[in-house]
Amino acid sequence: MRTLIRGGTVLSTTGGTPADVLIEDERIVAVTEPGVFETAGTVLDATGKYVLPGGIDAHTHMEMPFGGTFSADTFETGTTAAAWGGTTTIIDFAVQAKGTSLVSTLDKWHEKADGNCAIDYGFHMIVSDVNDSTLKEMETCIGAGVTSFKMFMAYPGVFYSTDGEILRAMQKATETGSTIMMHAENGIAIDELVAQSLAAGRTDPVQHGYTRPSDLEGEATSRAITLARVTGAPLYIVHLSAAEALSAVAEARNEGQNVFAETCPQYLYLSIEDLAKPDFEGAKYVASPPLREKHHQADLWRGLRTNDLSVVSTDHCPFCFKDQKELGRGDFSKIPNGMPGVEHRMDLLHQGVVAGEISLGRWVEACATTPARMFGLYPRKGVIAPGSDADIVIYDPVARQTLSAETHHMAVDYSAYEGFELTGKVETVLSRGKVVVSPGGFSGGRGKFLSRDLCQYLN
Ligand code: URP
Ligand code: ZN
Ligand code: ZN
Repeated sequence: MRTLIRGGTVLSTTGGTPADVLIEDERIVAVTEPGVFETAGTVLDATGKYVLPGGIDAHTHMEMPFGGTFSADTFETGTTAAAWGGTTTIIDFAVQAKGTSLVSTLDKWHEKADGNCAIDYGFHMIVSDVNDSTLKEMETCIGAGVTSFKMFMAYPGVFYSTDGEILRAMQKATETGSTIMMHAENGIAIDELVAQSLAAGRTDPVQHGYTRPSDLEGEATSRAITLARVTGAPLYIVHLSAAEALSAVAEARNEGQNVFAETCPQYLYLSIEDLAKPDFEGAKYVASPPLREKHHQADLWRGLRTNDLSVVSTDHCPFCFKDQKELGRGDFSKIPNGMPGVEHRMDLLHQGVVAGEISLGRWVEACATTPARMFGLYPRKGVIAPGSDADIVIYDPVARQTLSAETHHMAVDYSAYEGFELTGKVETVLSRGKVVVSPGGFSGGRGKFLSRDLCQYLN
């Protein structure tokens, strides 16, 4: 089956060029000057549109157990929403519960995801129980295509690892060439601040922000970088939200260390003012690290331009306002941590192009090409080139849309971006050559598990 996308502007990390794209079955077979191929079984007219590689969201949590509940999107609903928003690959986190093995965890996550995803997907592994056996199992995970391991300096008693445990896992990462992903917040100090706040009767959602100051993200980020330097491990800081953490990453990168970082749309567009909304509304914005003072946003946009922040992921971890965020009414520490966003990453970052914060090429790079290379998927994913999977988005750069829970496809009862007016909108999405989203609606996907190679940026 041949599909021709013609008349559009094909985007890559260097910007846009008029070109046609020919697809045979699941792969791209040619990218040509306009008009070289006249027809095919299916012809998609992209006149006036961008044609870009499908987005890769390298940080999602579908059906994630957290705080006595589960994130609201299943792999089916979450990947369908992702497709609506122009994301054609997610990398989700399998979560090791303490006392269980990494291999059984991976099996469990395959059971949840396999056969249920609208788009392709891979896994990272959350390591929360470091011991001889789990360290050995990291090798098995790598053999099974899971080449990155998230650890937590936050959440004592749940996911938290001590510096010694982190050091041991990093040594294993160095030995195997795999990547340690770090949730960098000083959880020990934070838990003390949380206890003090509750004891003083300060229980509202905004306290979640006050008890997790940006300095404690900066401190943990510096400590993670030091541990990575001592061990030689590649380090990827997840959901970086604060100027202090960004400075630490920039300094390490300037010194040539294999340190990378992502930020998320919520840190670029939302702030602690959202967390402070009255009538418990702030609970909608409780995630960790917390939303920051607005001045951090300019630093994050700059970090995106300078590549000190090289990836934008969503940390999509939705909990319904009515039934789930409610668990923390009267005690902010019991509000399940996480926010929805998998559907809107491409649009929100395109808004950065419209506003002049980043270039078109940088949009594609941060949202598709770099995550592909960072997590061992390139050139299969992240680029429009012969031989690559035909994961392609046709994007209307001038269409207008207003984000709302009434119209989004995520299985959550609120939008963190309710009423945001955006320029640009996904028109058509192909996942391995199959149209999954078009002006006619969603037409079903057939997502496959992606066995990933190691990070392709290491020096
Ligand atoms: O609040 C958040 N970020 N929830 C998801 C889990 C994590 O730490 O990424
Ligand atoms: Zn985290
Ligand atoms: Zn996360």
